[in-house]
Amino acid sequence: MLGVRVPKGSAEAIRLKLTRSNLVDKRFLIIEEDDFVIIPVLEEPDEELLANHCAQMTSLDFPTGKSRVDPIETIRKDADVPDALRGLLPDKWEQFGDVVVIRLPKALDGHESSVGDIYARVLGVKAVLRDTGGVTGMFRMPVVKKIHGSDTVTIHKENGILYKFDAARLMFSSGNVEERLRMSEIMCNGETIVDMFAGIGYFSLPLAVNQRPKKVISCELNEISYSYLLENVRLNDVEGVVEPILGDNRELPGEAFADRVIMGYVKTTHEFLPTAMRLVKDGGMIHYHETCPNELLPGRPVQRLRSAARNHRVEVLRFKEIKSYSPGVSHVVLDARVVKSS
Ligand SMILES: C[S@@+](CC[C@H](N)C(=O)[O-])C[C@H]1O[C@@H](n2cnc3c(N)ncnc32)[C@H](O)[C@@H]1O
Repeated sequence: MLGVRVPKGSAEAIRLKLTRSNLVDKRFLIIEEDDFVIIPVLEEPDEELLANHCAQMTSLDFPTGKSRVDPIETIRKDADVPDALRGLLPDKWEQFGDVVVIRLPKALDGHESSVGDIYARVLGVKAVLRDTGGVTGMFRMPVVKKIHGSDTVTIHKENGILYKFDAARLMFSSGNVEERLRMSEIMCNGETIVDMFAGIGYFSLPLAVNQRPKKVISCELNEISYSYLLENVRLNDVEGVVEPILGDNRELPGEAFADRVIMGYVKTTHEFLPTAMRLVKDGGMIHYHETCPNELLPGRPVQRLRSAARNHRVEVLRFKEIKSYSPGVSHVVLDARVVKSS
């Protein structure tokens, strides 16, 4: 049988991508072998995907396990809902540690409690949240309803990093998994880094845990996120490297001291470019995120970087779509070197 053999550090990222493309062969168990993970697949994925994760194809007999039955089959079979609605129970959900977030069609409105109970039981989680309004506001807070359990604080593990957060009050974008992984691989020994929109440490932690920066200044405006950021710095043992700051990144003092500035924010990121340009040093790098209508790519984000740079030069070294943000709109990230004229 076909399998994808991937180093442990990249396993979660590629598993998510393979699952999204319906390539994982769920009849069989994923296995671990030394520092590698082997994921059973139905067919060979794209070469680029394999190369991006240092993965290779292999062939072996995968074990089958108790979990051979797809959980959705049990959920649909056992749920306490009318038969006509069983097919509407979603076969996709997001799991963060021991909390699950699902989207339900309106037809299941009167059955939320039974639905929450069955997902909790089959998936073995303590809380189930119904996503009712996506992510909103300056703090990017999720709009969710608790449909099972009351304790929604969880510790989510991804690529070896522990992220503790309250899933009912804070977002965690699973679509950004590859960018978090990329941050963990950025060579930044001895660098001073500013993470302007730190949240619970989405980018600061992978970087600080896996590389050797001198300092990561992680700025966060929302007190709730900040409190988890503090905890996560301790949980991941990077107290000496990450310096959390509670406040508006536009008020960060100093200029031209950052080797690297991370701007992991969407919608209004460009409004913060003047601050990034002030903080970055000559030859430093800005990781600029933007949500942009596809027809304006790649011109608009490049133009915004150039106009914020004023008389400095901007060299765009990399441009990548992170994910589709909404119909016709992409979340992209640009790596831009800033050459400051004196
Ligand atoms: C939730 S994160 C974005 C998602 C994240 N990059 C990921 O990978 O999932 C953005 C964070 O920026 C914070 N924020 C918004 N405006 C800010 C500002 N002016 N200064 C500092 N933090 C800010 C928000 O509170 C939020 O926690």
